[in-house]
Amino acid sequence: MGLYEKLKEYSSLDYYPFHMPGHKRRLGEMINPYKLDITEIADFDDLHHAEGILKHTEQKAAKLFGAEDSRMLINGSTAGILSAIAGSVRPGGKIAVARNCHKSVYHAILLGELQSYYIYPEYVGEYGIHGAVTPESVEKILNEEPEIQAVVITSPTYEGIVSDVAGIAAVVHKRKIPLIVDEAHGAHLYFNTHFPKGAVSCGADIVINSVHKTLPAFTQSALLHMQGKYVNYQRVNRYLSIYQTSSPSYLLMAGISQCLQYMSCQGIQALEYLYENLQEFYQINEKLDKFSIVSREITTYNSVYDFDMSKIVISCKGAQMSGEELKGILKHKYHLELEMSAVTYCLAMTTLADSREGIQRLYTALLEQDNQCLKCETQSQDLYTQIRAKRVLTIAEAQESPMRTILLQQSLGKVAGEFIYLYPPGVPILCPGEEINQKILSLLTAYQEAGIRFQGIQDETAKWIQVVFD
Ligand SMILES: Cc1ncc(COP(=O)(O)O)c(C=O)c1O
Repeated sequence: MGLYEKLKEYSSLDYYPFHMPGHKRRLGEMINPYKLDITEIADFDDLHHAEGILKHTEQKAAKLFGAEDSRMLINGSTAGILSAIAGSVRPGGKIAVARNCHKSVYHAILLGELQSYYIYPEYVGEYGIHGAVTPESVEKILNEEPEIQAVVITSPTYEGIVSDVAGIAAVVHKRKIPLIVDEAHGAHLYFNTHFPKGAVSCGADIVINSVHKTLPAFTQSALLHMQGKYVNYQRVNRYLSIYQTSSPSYLLMAGISQCLQYMSCQGIQALEYLYENLQEFYQINEKLDKFSIVSREITTYNSVYDFDMSKIVISCKGAQMSGEELKGILKHKYHLELEMSAVTYCLAMTTLADSREGIQRLYTALLEQDNQCLKCETQSQDLYTQIRAKRVLTIAEAQESPMRTILLQQSLGKVAGEFIYLYPPGVPILCPGEEINQKILSLLTAYQEAGIRFQGIQDETAKWIQVVFD
């Protein structure tokens, strides 16, 4: 069966998507896509020098999100993150980065040969997820390294954790440098007050939204917003024209345009509908015995500023079942396809395109499984704990160094030559240039024993690792 046939067949089945894209394969309409698929012909503007119809779409986005300038991205948030960082930090310069950022941030650091300084978010052990980044931790690193040229954080995270973006922006602006917020998972935050406030509204300078993740738009489509006096608009735009394809898809851009139109007319009501359905769903916590769902109560943790309830994080810590196992059962038994799983939790992503029936299907399935599975009397231990490694070389220096491949078990004290991350979420456990310590070794070994495969590293089992030649 070819790819097209496989997709067609899948679309005819009753699998319910608790994953991206945000349109959930039900919202949005277009005629035969081949009839719309043009390139930059006369009267259709040029994404890299937008003056006409594409400019109008970008202006509409800026107005809706409250930015000074918005740019369409058709290579995902990835292209926006690469451009925002390259446009804000000179080659070889210093950057402060939340350590739970997506791999695209680390790739920008690699390409710009930047020196990275990490801000470690608090770790919420109860659920085994990263908490938020605080203004205090950002201020501390800016005091220690006054030559830092930009700060990057992720908010909301994959799991819906929102940082105090306004507080962080205030600290960053004291240094007259930009705050870049990877808000890939938060494009919906601008359209209904039941959800946390968006980073543009909180004063961040560059904000990147994957509209494809949480709004009804095609995969790969995203937006980059800019505002204020700390952004070098010209440089960011220059890098956008480098990192974005020279043949931007008019289908994807028309999808963004349709999405903006939809959000401006029906966004508030559609999110109201989602909110009501979620309110009902979250009552499940009162009935669950072994599983638990992360809720707004998590904001009682010191650093967690706010929580995006559209991310349903199902903790399996009280059950004799891993996140992967639960995700598998939900898929095979109930035809509910979740976004991701980790060892101790799994994640169902909801958007304004979700139906009440879909969310109720998840509710019923979880209750049934909660009844059937065994309780874990001693809560299962996190594999992941907050890990810090000493940066010996920059990511670029390490990747350009002569390397040798050794057994992971013999790598203690060596300098990593490769990234190691799980995907999703794509947050590096280890970066090139970091010294491998005992905590990292133990974590990787535990993941190996759980049968988890890694990405970013040549040997996906991580039995072997490339280290910098010493
Ligand atoms: C936090 C975060 N940032 C950025 C990205 C990259 O977004 P895109 O897939 O739109 O390039 C992702 C992708 O999952 C992500 O999770």
